[in-house]
Amino acid sequence: MAITEEFKQELKARTDIADVISSYVQLKKSGRNLVGLCPFHNERSPSFSVSRENGFFYCFGCGAGGDAITFIRKIENLDYVDAVRLLAQRAGMTVPENNVNDGMGKLKGRICEANREAARFYHRQLYSPAGKQALDYLRGRGLTEKTIIHFGLGYSPRDRFELTNHLRSKGFSKDEIIQANLANQSKKGNPFDRFSDRVMFPIIDLRGNVIGFGGRIMSDIKPKYLNTSDTPVFNKSRNLFALQFAKNKAKGQLILVEGYMDVIALHQAGFENAVATLGTSLTQEQAMIIKRYCDEVVICYDADEAGQKATQRAIGILRPTGINIRILTVPSGKDPDEFIKSYGDQGSARFRMLLEKSGNDTEYRLSKLRNSYNTDIPEQRVAFLTKAAALVSELENPVEQDVYISKLSHELDVEKEALKRLVNKNNRRSYRESIKDEQFRAQAQMSGINDRMNRDKQFNLKAANAEEAIISLMMNNPDIAQQISKELPPDKFVTGFNRNVYGVLLKRLSAGDDISISDISGEFSEEEMSSITRMMLSHPRDPDPSLAAKEYTEILIEQSERLTPEQAETADYDTIMEELRKLREKKK
Ligand code: GTP
Ligand code: MN
Repeated sequence: MAITEEFKQELKARTDIADVISSYVQLKKSGRNLVGLCPFHNERSPSFSVSRENGFFYCFGCGAGGDAITFIRKIENLDYVDAVRLLAQRAGMTVPENNVNDGMGKLKGRICEANREAARFYHRQLYSPAGKQALDYLRGRGLTEKTIIHFGLGYSPRDRFELTNHLRSKGFSKDEIIQANLANQSKKGNPFDRFSDRVMFPIIDLRGNVIGFGGRIMSDIKPKYLNTSDTPVFNKSRNLFALQFAKNKAKGQLILVEGYMDVIALHQAGFENAVATLGTSLTQEQAMIIKRYCDEVVICYDADEAGQKATQRAIGILRPTGINIRILTVPSGKDPDEFIKSYGDQGSARFRMLLEKSGNDTEYRLSKLRNSYNTDIPEQRVAFLTKAAALVSELENPVEQDVYISKLSHELDVEKEALKRLVNKNNRRSYRESIKDEQFRAQAQMSGINDRMNRDKQFNLKAANAEEAIISLMMNNPDIAQQISKELPPDKFVTGFNRNVYGVLLKRLSAGDDISISDISGEFSEEEMSSITRMMLSHPRDPDPSLAAKEYTEILIEQSERLTPEQAETADYDTIMEELRKLREKKK
């Protein structure tokens, strides 16, 4: 184990989970617990609950849950050890460094170091004779020396062994270089540079680590951009290009563009609050990150059809977060970089004008919608208004709804009341649908269909529920945990995930360690912690835990001796006879 149990106990004693979470989420008292809006998914009514006395959080909407450490891991995107460090710092403690022996954390550290060394190497290459073409290319695209240095741009040499050799000479192992995705492996197992003859854009996270690269080819060869694939430190749906700069300049607003070059051109022109996704369309995770740093986002995608489609998608993802959305359309089919450049010295001022003019997303969506109908023809006018009413009914704020109803009724010359009725009809329908969704989610959770952690659950529902009850009983009642552990061997657990959790509990018990939710988080991933927290909640404290434990143990022993349907199909004669005998015994 990476960090000693004593240290963890001390940290637990000094950490108030409600305090920790309050720095991120506004919490209100509700009975014994605190509730608020979940920071891990979009929601309008609070399903995120924090139990101060038990030291855990759980979201009934998305199922995220765990102790204070799990919360920090998830929200700050940190390793276990780094999350402990952060909480320790809060509590005025220091993690003794010689205690830390955390394999994954170490690999991540090495990967970041390799990336940093690679970024330095690429940057030096840009100023070497071999990099002249790349440097000319960047200058040709209007970038100043200052910008090139600010973004740490570089050049990856044509020869596919140069970076690998350089990193080897700096003491990085073949494995580390491949794990960082700086090199690929040949059939013979030899590493060769992933990036060759490209302009390099380092991707840097909020802590200043170089986590990956984008590389642009300077000719028409495809692919135009090559990015780092996902590695232990790089996840393209969880990061945004240039957020490390933009977050300090946001002042409540971020500009979201499509390309690296757009970001760089905007920053150079003084719009240092621009960010871009990393070669993919916007994800929910990115939307939640954006929401943490601003309350207004200006979407400024390419004016072409693909860009407009992406705009619609991004609106759909950003709208539920509740942040204000504005749409900036760059005229004459240009992207922001081309637009700014085409006006030379005036580029910055021109872009500022566009920014000031940019409308909100409802206006944008209504005008897009209207373009696809000829509203002079009565049928098409009705069709447009029906769609428009549906769109307006999605708005949360009734005042906002009223503004658009008035505007539409005025522009299309229809009764305001009639339009209002149309919108209200939709309001009611979407309310009914949201209720149905919730019922469906609850049902799915009970039947285990959506249990991604425990795939065996849906086929062994009865056993899985008993297992979860046992786990919950043990964690909630440390005094009977020892007894259970003696009577119930782990091989009686039918489902894989639960058996694994139980195994960890047994291991800790036999070492004399505690097993409450905030004692075990070093042993599990964030997602696993969520599942375990859910188990504890769906099996609340029992009035007679010891009796309950007996009953569930019996169910488990009985269930584990039953043949699964697959086993029955392939079982031999004796096994089946034995099974039938057992069944008869039970009936007596
Ligand atoms: P320039 O042509 O250099 O101005 O690029 P751009 O930044 O304007 O890029 P473009 O609008 O063509 O694409 C937007 C973003 O999509 C890029 O910044 C990349 O992140 C990504 N992208 C573009 N082409 C490719 C590709 O071939 N492969 C991958 N993986 N991503 C790409
Ligand atoms: Mn471009």
